[in-house]
Amino acid sequence: MKTSEFIAKKAVKNIEYVSFTWQTPSNIALVKYWGKTNPQIPKNASISFTLNNCHTITTIDFKRKHNAEIVSESDKSVAFNLFFEGKKKEEFKPKIAEFFKRIQAYCPYIFDYEMTIKSENSFPHSSGIASSASGLSAIAMCLMSLEKQLHSDLSEEFINKKASFLARLGSGSASRSIEGPLVVWGKHAAVEESSDLFGVKFPYKVAPVFNNYQDAILLVDKGEKQVSSTVGHNLMNNHPYADARFKDANENLEKMATILQKGDLKAFVSLVESEALTLHAMMMASSPYFILMKPNTLKIINKIWEYRAENDSNICFTLDAGANVHVLYPENEKKSVNTFIEKELAVFCQNKQYILDNAGLGAIEK
Ligand code: DP6
Repeated sequence: MKTSEFIAKKAVKNIEYVSFTWQTPSNIALVKYWGKTNPQIPKNASISFTLNNCHTITTIDFKRKHNAEIVSESDKSVAFNLFFEGKKKEEFKPKIAEFFKRIQAYCPYIFDYEMTIKSENSFPHSSGIASSASGLSAIAMCLMSLEKQLHSDLSEEFINKKASFLARLGSGSASRSIEGPLVVWGKHAAVEESSDLFGVKFPYKVAPVFNNYQDAILLVDKGEKQVSSTVGHNLMNNHPYADARFKDANENLEKMATILQKGDLKAFVSLVESEALTLHAMMMASSPYFILMKPNTLKIINKIWEYRAENDSNICFTLDAGANVHVLYPENEKKSVNTFIEKELAVFCQNKQYILDNAGLGAIEK
C-alpha cells in the first residue's frame, strides 16, 4: 500500500458531536526496533507480543467547530484538550500536538473538531513501562472510529491498517499495538504483506506452545526514562555497529518466524535474550554511551538463568530501553514460574512490584 491510500477523502456527512472509547495494549518486542529514518521508517523489521493487562483506555469527544466550513486553509489548527487520569495535562500536549501535525494530511477532518482526550493507563503511573505504544494506538483507534462514521464504507481491515499507520507516526512501536497476539512491523521478505508503514498480524500458524504466552514485567526502576526513544534511535546514526545490527535484526526476524511456527522453545529463549542484550550493547557502544540496566536487572537475569538450568525450564527475559525486566514463559509453566517470581525475584523490584501479563489480541472498543 502507498501512503496516498491513507489520505481520507472529503467527509460525506457532518457529525456535530460524537464520542469513542478504545482500550489498546502495550507490546513487548522479541526482535527489537532500534534505529529509524524519517518519517518513522524502521531500519529493520521487528516482531512483538501484544500484551493484555498493560493497556491504555482513551475516550475522545469530538465536537464540530462552529466555523468548520468557513475557516481558510491557512487558519486551520488542531484544537484539543488533554486529561490524563482525570487531570488536565499540559505537559503531555506537545507530543500529541506533534502527532496531530504528522497525521493531519491523512486525517484532514481533525481540523473540523474540538477534541477532548481523556486517557488512563492500567499500569501504575511512571512505572517505567512505555505508555507511548498504548497511548498513541488508542488515539489512532478513536480517530478511525470517527473516520468510519464520516465515510461509513471503511472495512475493518483498512481501519486496523490505517490505525497502525497513524500510530506509527506517533511512536514506531505503537504500530504493533492494534492487533495481536504477534505483530510484525517493517518490510521483510520472510513475512508476507509486511510493511514499513504499518504493523501486520504474524500471518503464519504458530505452534501451540506459543499460545497465551506469559510476560511478567518486573518493575526494577520506576523512574523517568534515562534516554528518550528519540535520543536512543538517533544514537544509531553514525553508530559504528549500526549496519551489522540492522542486518542481524533482519536475520533474527526470519529465524524467529521459523521458531514460532516450529515451536522450538530452546531457540526462542536464546534468540529473545540475545536480542535484548544486543539492544543494550548498542546503547553501551554508542556516543554518548548509556547503561540502562541497574544492578537488580543483572541480579534478576542471573536468577532466571539459574532457575532455567535447575528446572529445565523455558523461562527467559527480555528488556526494553530501560532497567525493567520482562520475564517470558509458556503457559504450562505459569504456576511454577509465578511462584518463583514472587519468592525470588520480587525482592529485586521497587516496592516488590511486578505485573503479570500475557499475550493479548489488541484493541477493544469500550
Ligand atoms: C527498545 O517506539 O518508543 O522498545 O518511534 O521514537 O517513539 P519512537 O520509538 P519507540 O521505540 C521502541 C524501542 C524499543 C524496541 C521495540 O519496541 O521494538
